Amino acid sequence: MAERDTVLSVNNLVVNFKTDNGLVQAVRDVSFDLKQGETLCIVGESGSGKSVTSKAIMGILANNAIIAGGNIIYRGENLLEVSEEEFYKIRGHKIGMIFQDPLSSLNPIVKIGKQITEATLINSDKLKLMYNDLISDDLIRYKNTLAKMNIQIDTEKKKLDTYISELSKKEGGLTEEDKADIKERQAAFKTFAQSTKTEYMNQARSLKAVLDQKSKEAKAQVKEYKAKVTAEHKQKVSAIKERMGNASGPEKEQLAKELEEEKINFKNKLSITKAEAKRRALEIMREVGIPEPEKRFNQYPFEFSGGMRQRIVIAIALTVSPEILICDEPTTALDVTIQAQILELINRIKAERNLSCIFITHDLGVVANMADRVAVMYAGKIVEYGTSDEIFYDPRHPYTWALLSSIPDVDSKEKLEAIPGTPPNMIYPPKGDAFANRSRYAMNIDYREQPPYYKVSDTHYAATWLLDPRAPKVEMPRIVKERIRISLEEDSHEQEN
Ligand SMILES: Nc1ncnc2c1ncn2[C@@H]1O[C@H](COP(=O)(O)OP(=O)(O)OP(=O)(O)O)[C@@H](O)[C@H]1O
Ligand SMILES: [Mg+2]
Repeated sequence: MAERDTVLSVNNLVVNFKTDNGLVQAVRDVSFDLKQGETLCIVGESGSGKSVTSKAIMGILANNAIIAGGNIIYRGENLLEVSEEEFYKIRGHKIGMIFQDPLSSLNPIVKIGKQITEATLINSDKLKLMYNDLISDDLIRYKNTLAKMNIQIDTEKKKLDTYISELSKKEGGLTEEDKADIKERQAAFKTFAQSTKTEYMNQARSLKAVLDQKSKEAKAQVKEYKAKVTAEHKQKVSAIKERMGNASGPEKEQLAKELEEEKINFKNKLSITKAEAKRRALEIMREVGIPEPEKRFNQYPFEFSGGMRQRIVIAIALTVSPEILICDEPTTALDVTIQAQILELINRIKAERNLSCIFITHDLGVVANMADRVAVMYAGKIVEYGTSDEIFYDPRHPYTWALLSSIPDVDSKEKLEAIPGTPPNMIYPPKGDAFANRSRYAMNIDYREQPPYYKVSDTHYAATWLLDPRAPKVEMPRIVKERIRISLEEDSHEQEN
């Protein structure tokens, strides 16, 4: 399969929360890419930082949050740095989110119909939308180049800062040698920043020239469109009025109606009217499987069942034609049959609209039917990531093994092995592998040092010292092995049949 475009990229994200007890280190250096059209599942126990990660993307973190590092790149913009206005546009427009509890994302005292049409009516200027569409590709190309440049320079700067601060911690202070070393590195950084800027600015300048040209053309096109529809409208109106002058009785009434229609028609060409927003809303309500949408349009959230409410929330997320859909445990509050229906709905919509999807859950059982790729999160870090097949058939991190052992058995519905112990207190996260004290595979080094990501394949990485060449060979738990064997057998039977 050809390499797909990256639509969203989270790099070295660090999120802390100020609390009376100290700083909660909720997200600790999280990086991942979301590819066009894929579903990336983020799994992990309660408190592992899944929601904080998705809220950081949506820009809806609590007030006591501190984003202490990293960036979130979407279409060449660092979402952590864009202006509020820009962010609002992206959030409302291109990235949609579905929450765990549908009630909390619906306004209880506003009719469903109004809630669904709201976002459409906010961005209702068709001429503006047309212009944005026309320049979008070139604008992204230009902004991506600038973002790449800034990220490269930032990353280098951070490396330098970390190096210097590590060095300064040394007992007895800096030696003359250290000072010279630092100076040299600072100079090297300066040179690097300069040459990176030169390299990218050349590219950026020519892309900007293309963009300016495109923008001119787009403006002209929009102007032409507006002039054309306005001229047509005027012509129609004067024709109708002329006929009205010679008409009387029912014919005149008919013409008056035509005139009204033409006025609405004209308005529709320039902006999205309430009527059109409603028509679209009803269409989307049908798409997400809400029966009798005309009747439902005028009802309040409390008149809907849990499953139907979640469908409404999905409908709202879809009205703005998002490119990315973030689903944060969208089925946890629902019972099992409804859960399956909502998952099916999300899968169908995702495919039909070619959305890129981040799907968050604590339940690996759900992941199997949804994910192209899986990121396993523990104590604010991604400890393993890979394709769905790699995580299910070739897991490497002891925490992933533990999660796999705890998936309820399909037949007995019982959890086979609960994960022993509890996640760490994130005010004092452990020094090394945070899972060490719950893992029977832990080695000395696990308590001392953070494991790096070891490469298992081009698409599969795990942060566990067990993958170090010096580590003793260990086998994954029997139960996990057994499950993999059974599901592989089932797969091959299915293929035979
Ligand atoms: N506003 C806040 N102030 C302090 N700590 C917070 C705040 N929000 C989240 N946290 C902490 O950040 C950590 C990660 O929380 P997060 O909500 O991301 O977990 P999660 O993985 O989504 O878990 P769950 O499966 O329960 O939804 C937790 O320790 C949580 O207590
Ligand atoms: Mg959560």
